[in-house]
Order: sequence, then C-alpha cells, then structure tokens
Amino acid sequence: MTTPENNKERFISLLKGTGRQGVNNVIAMLEKEGFFTAPASTKFHLNSEGGLLEHSLNVYDAAMMLKADMVKVNPAIEKDLPDDSIVLSTLLHDVCKSDIYFKTTLSRKKPDGYWEKYEGYQTDYKKAFPMGHGEKSVIMVLSWGLSLTKEEMLSIRWHMAPWDMPTQSGEHKESFNAAKELTPLCPLVQIADQIATALIER
Ligand SMILES: [Fe+2]
Ligand SMILES: [Fe+2]
Repeated sequence: MTTPENNKERFISLLKGTGRQGVNNVIAMLEKEGFFTAPASTKFHLNSEGGLLEHSLNVYDAAMMLKADMVKVNPAIEKDLPDDSIVLSTLLHDVCKSDIYFKTTLSRKKPDGYWEKYEGYQTDYKKAFPMGHGEKSVIMVLSWGLSLTKEEMLSIRWHMAPWDMPTQSGEHKESFNAAKELTPLCPLVQIADQIATALIER
C-alpha cells in the first residue's frame, strides 16, 4: 500500500541511487523546505499532505513506462534517456512548490446547501521564494549543490511550457522549441507530468 512514509523512503532511495554529487544535501534541504509534507495543489490534484511527493513519484513512474514503450518503437532514443536523468528530472521538477503552501481553515458548500469548514491549503508567494516555476526548481537544486546535466536542467525548467506558452515572448518560445529538439528528456518529462495529473491522479 502507498503511504506518505513509504513514498518518502522510495523517493530518497531513488535519488540516492543516482549517486549524483550533492544529492544528500538536496534531500536535507527538501526536508527543511517542507517538500515531503506539501500538497500538490490547493484545489486540484493531490491537494492533501504528502501530495507533492506522491505526484513527483507518479511523474517518475509515468516517465519510466513511457520510456520503455517508446524505446520499443524507436530504440535510438534509449541512449538519450538515462534512468538517472529521469529520476532527477521527474522527482525534482516541482520542488518549486515546496514553500508556497500553508494550512488554513476554508469553507465549502455541502450537497444539502449548507456550508462547512474544513482544513485545507492556500498559497503565499510573498513568504516563499518567488522565482517562477520550472526555473525556480532548477535554481533551488543547483543552489543546494546538486550537479545536473544540461539536459536535466532543460527538462525541469521547461516541464510546464505547453501551458504558459501563449503568453510568452518570442525568445521564450524559441528556447522552449530548441530544448525539445535538443533532448527527448524534455518532452518525456512534460508528457509524464501531464499523464500523472490527467490520468493517474484523476
Ligand atoms: Fe510543475
Ligand atoms: Fe508536476
């Protein structure tokens, strides 16, 4: 059975399994920032304690399943999708959300029309490190001393790109398109993130 405790154990074991320089400090900093207990959202997918951790593992699982299937139809991409890179870019793609949530009492309408109070989450970007989303995740883990490849950085930075692209500058769009062409890790993480939220967590 999946519990927050064994999710945490699995997450740490996967990260340590990469043997990547700086990974132990990343785990300590994630603990300090509240990553292991944070929800994945306030109203949508996995909006409960440990939701962010569960979502990150779902993205990892989706990416590994996709890799296995895609390598069958296009064996040439296998060398560009190392397992360690998938571990690091999926498990760390949303660490930017570690510090944005706080617990509070909220109200909701019940089916009988009456209102009830419940314990939920809201966001506070002023108390957090307001550095964006994917780019914030990259900056956080680099500042904690993690050694990432260029492909891993691009995959974390651009994982949300299809969603905010219409409002962005031309330079932003060109960078996103170039990153997708540079490494299949980039589309793999984007698609795995969407599979996790739209299919696994629905
Ligand atoms: Fe995200
Ligand atoms: Fe995500």
